[in-house]
Amino acid sequence: MTRAVGADEALAIVEDDLGVAAADAFAEFDPMPLSAASIAQVHGCVLRDGRPAVLKIQRPDIADRMNRDLRMMYRLARLVDRTRTGHLLNAPGVVEDLHQVTNEELNFVLEAHRQTAFRDNIGAFGDNAWITAPEVYWDHCGTRVICMERLYGTPLDRFDDVRARGIDGELALRRGLKVWTEAALVHGPFHGDVHAGNIWLLDDGRAAYLDFGIMGELPADHRQAVRDAQFTLMIDGDYSRIVRAWQRIGILTADVGPVDEVAARLKAVLDPMFDLALGEVSLGELLRQQVELQREYGARAVRELVLVSKQLMYFERYAKELAPAYNMARDLFLVQNVFPEDVARAAAERGITLPDDSVPLLRPPAPPGGAGRAPRPAPAPPG
Ligand SMILES: Nc1ncnc2c1ncn2[C@@H]1O[C@H](COP(=O)(O)OP(=O)(O)O)[C@@H](O)[C@H]1O
Ligand SMILES: [Mg+2]
Repeated sequence: MTRAVGADEALAIVEDDLGVAAADAFAEFDPMPLSAASIAQVHGCVLRDGRPAVLKIQRPDIADRMNRDLRMMYRLARLVDRTRTGHLLNAPGVVEDLHQVTNEELNFVLEAHRQTAFRDNIGAFGDNAWITAPEVYWDHCGTRVICMERLYGTPLDRFDDVRARGIDGELALRRGLKVWTEAALVHGPFHGDVHAGNIWLLDDGRAAYLDFGIMGELPADHRQAVRDAQFTLMIDGDYSRIVRAWQRIGILTADVGPVDEVAARLKAVLDPMFDLALGEVSLGELLRQQVELQREYGARAVRELVLVSKQLMYFERYAKELAPAYNMARDLFLVQNVFPEDVARAAAERGITLPDDSVPLLRPPAPPGGAGRAPRPAPAPPG
């Protein structure tokens, strides 16, 4: 943990930002931070109306300090750029990218806005009741302060806790992945930092996304290409659709050969791989390799695709722990809202039942010593 800012100083930032005395806005403020990282620290509090909340407070001077560092890096990058071999690195471009990403992360108004949009989109199709994100309390937010609903639970990587609570890890993962997939392929902005501290399993059985400091969004043509690839993998196995999509976004060139022949070759190599469980093949790694082929296409598109591949790798790590036999490449559930009719038809043909919101996350506990204990009743889905 980075050294925490003192509670008085943290509270002074809140008062300054909101333009009110803390006592007028909050019934309680916990001086012990829940977390203190490089950009922000988080304190528990209670609003005057009794709602438990947290305040994510930006460290004083952090924006100035980081931008000072960025300016120094930019000067170095320009020097490197003047040398013949250094020029090939495009160092100024790299620093410009870093400048954009860093300042997005420092912009708490943007973060709160993205969090609200992500949260609203979770329920866009009327399902996903078991996944949430903290509600932003806008009347207590400022440029350096995000006030939001307080959640109670454990980070996803406390795998022993997860197992001890009898949580169906595979179902939790599928539900979380489904929301993430819908965000990237339908709504646009997706969570770009799904490390385990930012995904929580809540005490009430739901799972939550936290921390919207880093988000990605695929450019429209790339989003369509990834959707096309998903349709092929999940629904009809027609790899010519992938070849055409990859040609449109420059992963394959127009002159690779007749589409049908290339498709047949790809299918022969890839299709058996997609039948394997995640422990045996990494979709994230596969996508990263594809992106290598596309380097010259344009920095922005590449950044977003790399961000997608990184998130997939995180999810694969969780799958290895929580659901070793799970195969996300063929899980119709993930694209249920992306291709509704096709998924319904494919599921019926394959005799698959997709989980709905009535299935609870907690497995009924095995009765100790055999009989004699009734399983815990399933909780009703929240919300
Ligand atoms: N809504 C919340 N409810 C409860 N704890 C929270 C909430 N938001 C953040 N926290 C706590 O603060 C930590 C840091 O918050 P996060 O948004 O991830 O900030 P950072 O950008 O510093 O990672 C979380 O891992 C969690 O422990
Ligand atoms: Mg975080």
